[in-house]
Amino acid sequence: MSYEKKRDYLLNKYPAISDLAVKAKSRMPNVSWSYLETGTGEEHQLNRNIEAFKDITITPRFCKGQLSPDIKTTFCGRGYNAPFGIAPVGLTGLMWPQAELHLAETAQRYNIPVTLSTVATETPETVGPIAKDLGWFQLYTPKEPELCKTILDRAWQSGYKTLVITVDIPAPSRRERSKRAGLTMPPKITPNLIWQGITHPKWTIKTLRRGLPQLRTVSEYANFRSMMSVGAFVEGQMGGNLSWDYCKRIRDQWKGDVFIKGILHPLDAEECINIGADGIAVSNHGGRQFDGSASALELLPSIVSEVNGRCPIIFDSGIRTGLDVLKALHLGADFVLLGRAFIYGVAALGTYGADHVCEIIAGDLKNNMIQLGISSLEEIRTL
Ligand SMILES: Cc1cc2nc3c(=O)[nH]c(=O)nc-3n(C[C@H](O)[C@H](O)[C@H](O)COP(=O)(O)O)c2cc1C
Repeated sequence: MSYEKKRDYLLNKYPAISDLAVKAKSRMPNVSWSYLETGTGEEHQLNRNIEAFKDITITPRFCKGQLSPDIKTTFCGRGYNAPFGIAPVGLTGLMWPQAELHLAETAQRYNIPVTLSTVATETPETVGPIAKDLGWFQLYTPKEPELCKTILDRAWQSGYKTLVITVDIPAPSRRERSKRAGLTMPPKITPNLIWQGITHPKWTIKTLRRGLPQLRTVSEYANFRSMMSVGAFVEGQMGGNLSWDYCKRIRDQWKGDVFIKGILHPLDAEECINIGADGIAVSNHGGRQFDGSASALELLPSIVSEVNGRCPIIFDSGIRTGLDVLKALHLGADFVLLGRAFIYGVAALGTYGADHVCEIIAGDLKNNMIQLGISSLEEIRTL
């Protein structure tokens, strides 16, 4: 089947991200699906993230002739084919073995950025050469400065020039849905896991080929520190130590761009500017950390107004459609990231699954631009 035929077939069979989510759920063990989907607490914030988009409305204009929307953009001095990219997702291989590699390949094909998490299941050395200059590296800050330097050096040597420091994990959060599903790290072989493996053969065969998911970037340090499990190592040694001084030290060490991810308060946005951040990522970690705050989208305008053009703004948390992308840009974001949507794609369709996510989101964004009567991303901001 030609590329175009295959694309059209998929667009008819899975026209929306929600269709990919259904398919992904059927192919993943429950423990993986629960880890991907979980929010924190009662999951109010997770739901608010999605609901908030419904409250934003924009009024279309008509009789604008034939419109050919252009969604190419330049962000922080680099051109991309679309104003969206792939958010960092940890424990990625639990959801689909070697998902990081597929995501990096998609990023190359579509010319969009792809972010590798510190706690991904593949290393910067493996993924960096595939992502090339589209790779962003996400840092969870180790308590020990030496370890931090080692990880940063490894990322830089692997080709990552853009660093994303995630600041919204002062401590691991309670993710009840994931607990109920029995997730442990590293995964323990229990009768339940064996049964889930038998009933999800594609995931299981791929997992057996690659080996059980491990936090491969950091696991060597956990072993070095003597048999401490990787999960305990991450909990004990990473995060919980962040201050603006720490962020500034990393900012000064890192030769490329530094984005600060997880900003929700205008005064924290001000701190980002003070330390010289090159970008501010408004995000609530997809509803996974603190159940008591507003959706990320509701908080975006106050940060846009505080920053007032002094620093580019990235947005994530809750984007599932091209229209959602449009709305985030309309509220002042310069660029957006999607987390779960890309993982649904890979888990549902494998190697080219994230390509299909790009097709859905880009197609929907362009179509909605036409419906609104505009053809450029700049116009979205002035509506
Ligand atoms: C399963 C999962 C794992 C995640 N792991 C990380 C991570 O390792 N580092 C990070 O900065 N953010 C992480 N995030 C948050 C995402 O980068 C992003 O902020 C979030 O997924 C956006 O919300 P969305 O899933 O609604 O698009 C994770 C999110 C999910 C769903």
